[in-house]
Amino acid sequence: MAPPPTDATTQAPADAPARPDALVRMVGAAGAEIDCFRVAHGALLWPVLTERALPLASACKGKGICTACTVTQVDGADDALQPPSDEETRRLHKQRKPDHQRLACLCRVQGDVTLRVDYW
Ligand code: FES
Repeated sequence: MAPPPTDATTQAPADAPARPDALVRMVGAAGAEIDCFRVAHGALLWPVLTERALPLASACKGKGICTACTVTQVDGADDALQPPSDEETRRLHKQRKPDHQRLACLCRVQGDVTLRVDYW
């Protein structure tokens, strides 16, 4: 298993209150676990997944443009991921993505969560 990410982009925003790390479990389309790791509360998901060399699609390199980095929350509290921003919602709707999908490059982890990526 890869070591925990250390890049600054994987850290919670500087103004975020100190909270315990969140446990992120990644599963493939068939539900098999691909990876399981801890991230700082408030960490942006996409840099963590790419640093761990998980095969997440991306044509825009995490800029929120291509909508290829979709993930689906399959377990965890309703607030385990930060609510989608207007920008994320607009991009998902423009590409006619289902409402339950999220863009890994635009969402932050707030609590323990299991995420599925359907093309794994
Ligand atoms: S990586 Fe392109 S939208 Fe997320």
